[in-house]
Amino acid sequence: MTGNKRRWINPNKGILKVLERNADIVVSRFLYPHLSAVWNPYSWLLGKRFGLAETLLSPQGWPAQLDPLRVLLISDIHCGIFLKPQTLAKITSSLMELNPDLVAISGDIVTGHSNELNEFLDILAPLSGAPLGAWYCYGNHDYFGGDPEDIRKNLNSIGIITLKNHSVRVTHGKGSFVLGGIDDRVLGKPDWEKMLSAHGAPHLLLAHNPDFFYEAEAHGVPLTLSGHTHGGQIRLPRSRPILRQSRFCLDEGNFAFRSSLLVVSRGLGSVGIPWRWGADPEAVLIEIVPPSRSKAK
Ligand SMILES: [Fe+2]
Repeated sequence: MTGNKRRWINPNKGILKVLERNADIVVSRFLYPHLSAVWNPYSWLLGKRFGLAETLLSPQGWPAQLDPLRVLLISDIHCGIFLKPQTLAKITSSLMELNPDLVAISGDIVTGHSNELNEFLDILAPLSGAPLGAWYCYGNHDYFGGDPEDIRKNLNSIGIITLKNHSVRVTHGKGSFVLGGIDDRVLGKPDWEKMLSAHGAPHLLLAHNPDFFYEAEAHGVPLTLSGHTHGGQIRLPRSRPILRQSRFCLDEGNFAFRSSLLVVSRGLGSVGIPWRWGADPEAVLIEIVPPSRSKAK
């Protein structure tokens, strides 16, 4: 399904990327904060257009005896200038009514500065009420301003645990699986060796940038959950994204490469401009069933 297409401009480096990133940082930190008091179209759009995608997956290498696992993937929340807390509150409370076993938040929880998270903590706290908890990995915007360590501490205070090149074993029913998170690919310091050191390859990997997929496959990761692309955020009907954030064109949806699977969420928030077109905001509810059990369904 994937692995052949590759864009000729690397979206993670080069002069165009540096220009785009710095423009993004300037508007995110210094321009829009002064406009948000009178102009907040994105929260209006989010209330109208947010949707839930559902998918059923049976990754090769998933623990055979594990009970079905329901993971709620929320990516790219982008707390800050474009997002009203009350809009996010309605969405998070409706998502938790789905009773996921585990909540996975795959990066970019802020837009331009780590302190943007502060007024959203009470709203995000219910996510950690999932029986197997809520888990986070860093995205590139978490490094735009302030201290990413503040994000980790603040999330930890509401029970959301950040996995930065780290993995944990999670017990589910009578079985268990390994959950890992890798640091951001562009502005962080991803360290596979460190992430793999405690438990080997995680069964479930949180990786903000979907371009980690082929490295994850090479390390034996059955399933990777990503965001970052926003599905292009702005795309013409039946067309590809205007600004593509994945070098391997992993823009949105489910992908398979050899025995490894990837889910890329369009995410919830917005950056650069307070709008989406052709790439509506979403969360993804993923039911994971061992391959041996899925045949019986
Ligand atoms: Fe993002």
